[in-house]
Amino acid sequence: MKEEIPIKRTRGWLTSVCAAILVVVSLAVPLAGVSRADSVKVEIFSWWTGGGEEEGLKAIYKVLEQNNPGIEIINATVAGGAGTNAKTALKIRMVNGNPPDSFQVHGGAELIDTYVKTGMMEPITGLLVGWGVKDKFNQQILDMCSYKGQIYSIPVNVHRGNVLWYNKAILAKHHIQVPQTMDEFLEACRKLNQAGVVALALADRNKWEATHLFEDILASSLGTAKYNGLWNGKTSFKDPGVKQALDTFVALMQFVNADHAALTWQDTTKMLYDGKAAFNVMGDWAEGYLKTLGWIPGKQFGYLPVPGTKGSFMVITDTFGLPKGAPHRRGATTWLRTLASVGGQDAFNPIKGSIPSRLDAERQLYDVYLQSSMKDFAADKLIPSIVHGTAAPEGFITALNETINILISDGDADRALRSLQRAAALYL
Ligand code: GAL
Repeated sequence: MKEEIPIKRTRGWLTSVCAAILVVVSLAVPLAGVSRADSVKVEIFSWWTGGGEEEGLKAIYKVLEQNNPGIEIINATVAGGAGTNAKTALKIRMVNGNPPDSFQVHGGAELIDTYVKTGMMEPITGLLVGWGVKDKFNQQILDMCSYKGQIYSIPVNVHRGNVLWYNKAILAKHHIQVPQTMDEFLEACRKLNQAGVVALALADRNKWEATHLFEDILASSLGTAKYNGLWNGKTSFKDPGVKQALDTFVALMQFVNADHAALTWQDTTKMLYDGKAAFNVMGDWAEGYLKTLGWIPGKQFGYLPVPGTKGSFMVITDTFGLPKGAPHRRGATTWLRTLASVGGQDAFNPIKGSIPSRLDAERQLYDVYLQSSMKDFAADKLIPSIVHGTAAPEGFITALNETINILISDGDADRALRSLQRAAALYL
């Protein structure tokens, strides 16, 4: 039996709605597809516009259209990795009572604190029961979409956040062994740097990209149990591992590209592809992007858990739910049913660079990297991502982004430590 993934949960004021009525309403939605005469609309809101993301989204739209001829999809996207711009745009729509029919939101604190506890979402447990799929999902992932015994969104995937990607040709050319520990990683970076190669691709145009690197280093220096303890109060931000992570982050800054402030996650992923950097730390949506560029996992690029995090799986799940007052409720539930289907997940995930949240996916459809991710996901301890909304409330994420951003320019780990401790006291 796996442990629950620690998620910092603040007390909310969700008024309890009558679950029984909602179950009846949910079951009233036809379980079959939508016929042409019946054609419906659905506005689907996401930030999936980047390489690999857009292709994955289009693939699952195709399944939605095939199973529901005549359905009209309004593809409402707001560009910007990790929802940099989309999250604000969405919040404005939600608080103004103008919700899309369904929207992308990370399972964990982002969904629960922002939208469920505030009473903006319909529970969808009844739908899952009606479709006969409630037991088909990984339970820990479903728990990230649940609050007080009700499910509020469908997890379409599981992304891994703690991956170190590398350009195989560059490592071979410079006789660099794949680093297994943080010390070996620093040493490899040093050697590449001396040879005039950008060792580590860094982006921080939207801030989160660099924080993503930091959270992986934090998991590496604290280890699984202590990292998880940060979110349930068992580990203090005074733990020496936190300072060590900040120091390691600063040390790595000697080996990154100078133009990082102008770059996004796609740019740094492309640096690997273009042979302009040896390593990149990013979630496995980077795998989706590299594949759309024509690279094959294991051939031109290699991958491994960020050094020091082997045995831990930094988990991120993209989910979609049903906002109260969705203008096209029927279209929304039709979309949710597609996301919950094994066919929908198997169309989307092999392209997106993620693995399915359903337990019964067709493994052969997934490439060598994704199969290794499935294996690790089943065996590893799960650790929550901060940046991608799993572990901590938004206030903490913003403070962390600011802290890391300043750290990149001033290199002052002591000051960063004080900021982090303040943020933890305020928001956790
Ligand atoms: C993550 C999201 C992924 C991917 C990435 C970059 O937050 O979970 O699906 O889209 O951002 O945009």
